[in-house]
Amino acid sequence: MARKILITGGAGFIGSHVVRLFVKKYSNDHIYNLDTLTYAGNLENLKDIENENNYTFIKEDINHTDNISELFNKYKFDTVIHLAAESHVDRSIADPISFVRTNVMGTMNLLNAALETWREDFSDKMFYHISTDEVYGTLGETGLFTETTSYDPNSPYSASKASSDHFVRAYGETYGLPFIISNCSNNYGPNQFPEKLIPLFINNILNKKSLPVYGDGNYTRDWLYVIDHALAIDLILNDGKVKETYNIGGFNEWKNIDLIKLLIKQIDEKLNHTPGESEKLITYVKDRPGHDLRYAIDASKINSELGWKPTVTFEEGLSKTIDWYLNNKEWMNRVTSGAYQEYYEEQYK
Ligand code: NAD
Ligand code: DAU
Repeated sequence: MARKILITGGAGFIGSHVVRLFVKKYSNDHIYNLDTLTYAGNLENLKDIENENNYTFIKEDINHTDNISELFNKYKFDTVIHLAAESHVDRSIADPISFVRTNVMGTMNLLNAALETWREDFSDKMFYHISTDEVYGTLGETGLFTETTSYDPNSPYSASKASSDHFVRAYGETYGLPFIISNCSNNYGPNQFPEKLIPLFINNILNKKSLPVYGDGNYTRDWLYVIDHALAIDLILNDGKVKETYNIGGFNEWKNIDLIKLLIKQIDEKLNHTPGESEKLITYVKDRPGHDLRYAIDASKINSELGWKPTVTFEEGLSKTIDWYLNNKEWMNRVTSGAYQEYYEEQYK
């Protein structure tokens, strides 16, 4: 049966890779990309597939309750992959309310609209909620986040994502809404907005600007190439079990400072700079408040139950990512003009 798949946040970083994968792979299904195009949403990310017959873009805000209900009535979506969110921790520290609005209330609007449309017959319906490993809080020097780790969020961003996860689960338990949640580690790759560590540092290295390392740089993240996340989402949607949670990670922990040095090495090699030249740009700056020390995912459940594992090594993924930014300077110029400059001044003053 052909599916009517609603993907929210499809003009953003991860969402655009998910939309592309689904539009190309499932020509019999119809993919609806609903996105309000915040500073992070960019239709340029989807130029290559925008005219496909099985693709429709809907410019809408998930906070507009009535419009979201009308869209469910009109299109009768049977599958939702919900990625739309405010996604940057630093912005959540500056403006927590907008994170509650979109990440919690926006998710509620989608849940209510799905429930109203589906409640007579839940068969072949699925609400797939895309979440983050940050809901688990922070690890010390050892240990891994599993699917049963208690939620313990530390930032307004992770608190809002944790809240939305709880509501999704509650709608499943209370009303029988079929759902799946996955919690993924740090993504990187083409089309990531340059407020996040890797694209921000690539852009600054290319422009010989200082590289603002928070605190002592010894914070650890588990990095996954964005296309491997998209492939995991596809697998979980098709083969995952209803009401289950799946952790997705890269088996790939890096201290920020080591990652930054690898990034510098690769860029300096590609641009024929003197080795290590860009290390001079490293500047230690004031730490992020509530900065989580370490994230690391135990991805053994998705590996053993669904056979997923990352296909790209970190060195390969980072190299491909740098090449994409080197080949897409116009994209970077466009997204860093205007409001980005104000954000940058305020965040790094
Ligand atoms: P992003 O910020 O790049 O993109 C978010 C998209 O959502 C944008 O296109 C934006 O326009 C859209 N959006 C925001 N508010 C909206 C609203 N009110 N209505 C409709 N659309 C709206 O984010 P991302 O990094 O691609 O993350 C996507 C999802 O994956 C988020 O839910 C995030 O929490 C989750 N996630 C991200 C990572 C990561 O490393 N980036 C890791 C794990 C999980
Ligand atoms: O773990 C998954 C999460 O990863 C996602 O849910 C979030 O949406 C995504 O933004 C990301 O969160 P982080 O806070 O880990 O990512 P960010 O790129 O902002 O920072 C990565 C690390 O680098 C973190 O320890 C903070 C540090 N950092 C970041 C920036 C932007 C710096 O040292 N300097 C910087 O300028």
